[in-house]
Amino acid sequence: MSRSTRELLQITSELANRYIEELGRREVVPGAEAVQGLQEFHEPMPVDGTSPEQVIRRLDRFGSPATVATTGGRYYGFVVGGALPVSVAANWLATTWDQNAGAWALAPVAAELETVAAGWLLEILDLPRNAAVGFVTGSTMGTFSGLACARADLLARLGYDVKRRGLANAPQLRIVVSREIHPTNLLTLSYLGFGLGDIEYSATDEEGRIIPEQMPVLDSRTIVLLQAGNINSGSFDDFEQICREARAAGAWVHVDGAFGLWARASSSKKHLTRGIEKAHSWSVDGHKWLNLPQDSAIYACRKPKVVEEVFGVNATYLMRDGRRQPNNLVPELSRRARGVEFWAALKSLGKRGVEELVNRSCAHARRFAEGLADAGYEVLNDVVLNQVVFACRDETATRDALARIQASGVTWLGPTTWKGRLCMRISVSSWATTDEDVQRSLAVMERAIQGEVLK
Ligand SMILES: Cc1ncc(COP(=O)(O)O)c(C=O)c1O
Repeated sequence: MSRSTRELLQITSELANRYIEELGRREVVPGAEAVQGLQEFHEPMPVDGTSPEQVIRRLDRFGSPATVATTGGRYYGFVVGGALPVSVAANWLATTWDQNAGAWALAPVAAELETVAAGWLLEILDLPRNAAVGFVTGSTMGTFSGLACARADLLARLGYDVKRRGLANAPQLRIVVSREIHPTNLLTLSYLGFGLGDIEYSATDEEGRIIPEQMPVLDSRTIVLLQAGNINSGSFDDFEQICREARAAGAWVHVDGAFGLWARASSSKKHLTRGIEKAHSWSVDGHKWLNLPQDSAIYACRKPKVVEEVFGVNATYLMRDGRRQPNNLVPELSRRARGVEFWAALKSLGKRGVEELVNRSCAHARRFAEGLADAGYEVLNDVVLNQVVFACRDETATRDALARIQASGVTWLGPTTWKGRLCMRISVSSWATTDEDVQRSLAVMERAIQGEVLK
């Protein structure tokens, strides 16, 4: 290695370490000055180059302060997840390898680690062990992939080969989803050519679970989308009953388990997912609750032949040698080696570590719920997982309290609409959250409802 490359990587490592060390001391979201600093990047395309060291120092100087501290312990907005140190380190090493994980011959290590991680994931999530597993960017693409398989399989069973004949004259399929569906699922349906106006919505109960008795009648032209982990309440659909009925009718069930599928890894939470293994396909993020760096998810499909039919690439140069070829399982060909981070996190945590991570986040969420109720907030969901929805007595008070919490710099969470009401939502999904983080954040929330200005 040249001296300059070694120095560059050492400098970068020092900057990264400093970033991590400062996480606990800095404000959770960037202040106005840091955001203003981003203007430094807006310059005309340079004619002459800049040394790599200067480029990285500039990136750190103006970039690092303008990040949102999602890898710290006091960020509870959206459902994001932090980044386990081992997964960051594995990501660095794999980026250095710069493997193209599309085909075994291009990246044996990436392909083999995917194979290993896929097997471990099916085991820890307790899904059919012979399911095909594809490594994708996020749950959105995971659901897209599962639904592409659903579409192909249902149409094939109706005697229609969609890959060859296209959608124009295809028999119409039906889509049944929850009224509480995550909006990204609607996007995936539109990417696949399903008209959003034709979707059949199923009524939900007070926790956002589909009411099975009120679902439309299912048939062999129906794709049903269920949820493991409602984005607000964290609730789970009744997989047992709905999958039984769907199977009897010949319908396909896909489960959006972006974060909630990890409940499978916890012996005290697994009961929430009863019957989920009877679905046909599932998607789950690595970058949320498993705390991998962003851009990492999987989907699994119980019908490997359908996956191969949908995503298999027939090009002689791509070599089909009987090995698992990652590109034949996902929409992309060239891509980064996502399986490396999955492998590293699972190897480092083990089953016990993943279970502990899930249980710890859920315990923090319960502590939040208790503290919020004591402080005078109304907790509006049954806190079965890592999500807490809460509000003040009226919308104005909620809006004010949220603004104060967000401005505190100590913690950050976002608004949501729950049962038609403006609320706030906490998602505890970072490995880094400690009891102390919860206490500090709760103290801010307590003062916010009292109307205290926190800055
Ligand atoms: C329940 C649910 N489904 C799907 C998604 C989309 O996942 P991604 O952003 O990884 O594509 C999210 C993201 O927050 C989610 O919470």
